[in-house]
Amino acid sequence: MSSTDPDDIEALDRKYVMRPWTHPKGEPVIIAKAKGCTVWDVNGKEYLDLTAGYFVNNAGHCHPRIAAAVTKQVNEVLQVSGKHGTIPMVKLAQKLIGLAPKSVHKAFFSTGGSEANEVALKMARQYTKKPDIAYLANGYHGLTLGSLEVTASEKYRESAAKPLGKDNYAIPIPYVYRSKSGTPAGAVAEALDGLERLFDSHPNTAAIIAEPIQAVGGLAPPAEWWAAVDKIRKERGILLIADEVQTGLGRTGKMFACEHYGLLPDILVGGKGLSGGVGSLAVTCASDEIVKPFFGGTTPTSGGNAVSAAGGLAMIEAIIDERLVENAAAMGRHFTEAAWALKDPWIGDVRFIGLLGGIELVADRNSKAVLGKTELAKVKDHLHDQGMLITISGLHGNVLRLQPPLSITAAQIDQFIAALKTTLTAVRGS
Ligand SMILES: Cc1ncc(COP(=O)(O)O)c(C=O)c1O
Repeated sequence: MSSTDPDDIEALDRKYVMRPWTHPKGEPVIIAKAKGCTVWDVNGKEYLDLTAGYFVNNAGHCHPRIAAAVTKQVNEVLQVSGKHGTIPMVKLAQKLIGLAPKSVHKAFFSTGGSEANEVALKMARQYTKKPDIAYLANGYHGLTLGSLEVTASEKYRESAAKPLGKDNYAIPIPYVYRSKSGTPAGAVAEALDGLERLFDSHPNTAAIIAEPIQAVGGLAPPAEWWAAVDKIRKERGILLIADEVQTGLGRTGKMFACEHYGLLPDILVGGKGLSGGVGSLAVTCASDEIVKPFFGGTTPTSGGNAVSAAGGLAMIEAIIDERLVENAAAMGRHFTEAAWALKDPWIGDVRFIGLLGGIELVADRNSKAVLGKTELAKVKDHLHDQGMLITISGLHGNVLRLQPPLSITAAQIDQFIAALKTTLTAVRGS
């Protein structure tokens, strides 16, 4: 029987930890230390974390204010029944409702984005007494069975051994760069074509669930599209569930992405950084009206955990005091200018809304043919070797997803852009 060195964490990880997906080269990175936008693996290799720990550490890794708040809370109270509450939990609810669009008034805490979306779907069905839910093409709302029902990606849906429920349906969204016309107005017209008929053919629609700006591929629909969809759904009494799990808490250069469009959702869902990185915290906020008939049936055991809430509260305060929402907006512009300035033939589109978005890579800028899988893997590997932690996503799997902590500096972005320049040139020549 072979034994594993008790100090070889990477070997122990391979032996004991189950991961449904990782990139074949360089992953997983077992991180031993993290600070701000930088992380170090168990071998001491340094990385610039352009994933913010999977879009969570909005104020930066191990922010001292979060560490202090969490440390204090650990010595006061950790966990209480969902029937009761704790000071940080109540204060976090108050803070969120104060910052969120004025249409939501109360917060229900759970433990993850998928679960919080399921709570939202349940609330919408209970309130309207209707079963159907519309979701956006390319939308992502989580991988538990209920949230998968409204997640568009076939790859993920198939993982649940289709078919899922038949009552939910997708509605098209404008993808300006790949639309027939290539213009915002044309893309909006294409996406709206037939939409009213689609809604009319589903008279039992309780709600539309949507990210105001789609994180997968960084798709921000033109404002005209959101205005039209919002009008059409209101005329039919269809609720709007805004999934701000990823777009919330400053990511898009506004505290919530709904603000870009003046959207007033009936239900708003948050997660990811809501715990300041402590974990296991998500929220479903709803209007007083919708809350009235809401019956959860149960409350998630760890929903609203005191330590997670203290971490989240400290993170939100850091975001506000350090003006990180404004920094996200400015750094998104810097990313955009620096990426276009490379004039690289493989850069087809650059889409940043604050620090959500990315760079779409193509083999040919005229035809917009997606860059090949082999080249994309090499790009990722090359960036990884240079200490750049990124992920690749998008409808066609060709968007470098760049969502660092909101505290990133222009100098750190320039460091990434320099690595990208070397990478694209090297991979093209290989
Ligand atoms: C928009 C959106 N909704 C829901 C989820 C699911 O959240 P969780 O992974 O915490 O269940 C995610 C996670 O990436 C997300 O980006």
